[in-house]
Amino acid sequence: MSALLALERVSAGYGATTVLDDLSFRLEAGEICAILGRNGVGKTTLLRTIMGHTRLHRGTLHLAGRDASTLPPYRRARAGVGFVPQEREVFPSLSVAENLAVAARRGGAWTMERAFLLFPRLAERRRSMADRLSGGEQQMLSIARALMGDPRLLLLDEPMEGLAPVIVDSVLDALASLRAGGIAMLLVEQHARRALDFAPRTLVMDRGRIVHDGPSAQLRDDSERLAALLGVRGPEHISSRDGGAGDLRRAEAESGADDRDQRHIPEGS
Ligand SMILES: Nc1ncnc2c1ncn2[C@@H]1O[C@H](COP(=O)(O)OP(=O)(O)OP(=O)(O)O)[C@@H](O)[C@H]1O
Ligand SMILES: [Mg+2]
Repeated sequence: MSALLALERVSAGYGATTVLDDLSFRLEAGEICAILGRNGVGKTTLLRTIMGHTRLHRGTLHLAGRDASTLPPYRRARAGVGFVPQEREVFPSLSVAENLAVAARRGGAWTMERAFLLFPRLAERRRSMADRLSGGEQQMLSIARALMGDPRLLLLDEPMEGLAPVIVDSVLDALASLRAGGIAMLLVEQHARRALDFAPRTLVMDRGRIVHDGPSAQLRDDSERLAALLGVRGPEHISSRDGGAGDLRRAEAESGADDRDQRHIPEGS
């Protein structure tokens, strides 16, 4: 059986710049893997490389046993890769229902009604323009849009970033239900504890390389190792951007953050 995704000695980046450096890993069908690492180590670049949005300098990328190294992004999407980028990808001047309709794939397993079952909040707002939604609702729509393409592999780049705790919980519930349904996921997440609890396997990146790949339970029980891998000063610092949900919630409460942070979403993105 070939892996769902296989990267073999991949070096990739932007133009002549190399960000990912000789990186290899495989992901099996239905496998859930978290990707951790400090800011700027290449987590987003890894997801963008899988989707075909960067320049592959060396190495190969296979999807379900087929060489996809030179395929453009839309063909990778057709081959079963769904991408939820860090900047929530929705059409601001279309309604929720229209956003889903344009992402739908003929004959696909995902319909608008199924997306609404996963995110009841979107059903309530189906006629609202996407730019009228809260940050959390936009994130749900961004995930739902990716699902409408019927992916076997979902790439999620910090989907809980900047969301109020109650919205984080509903996004996590939805992801857990997708996990139970057998979709594979690569989840980039800044909150280490949350990621380790959600994904059975964790990759840690540093400077464009994978510096750790193993069962999440191992890292969960070894906070010193985790702290060393994430380059923080000690276990007590695995908080806020790097860790515990409890710390995060406190930080959000203190800063008054909620899910109404309307992020810039480029027109026609
Ligand atoms: N479009 C781009 N052009 C050139 N360099 C880029 C581009 N995007 C990112 N980089 C560089 O690539 C490196 C990795 O960035 P990347 O966004 O992949 O990191 P990250 O791990 O996702 O960081 P964060 O945790 O802040 O999201 C950084 O040095 C960054 O400056
Ligand atoms: Mg990133």
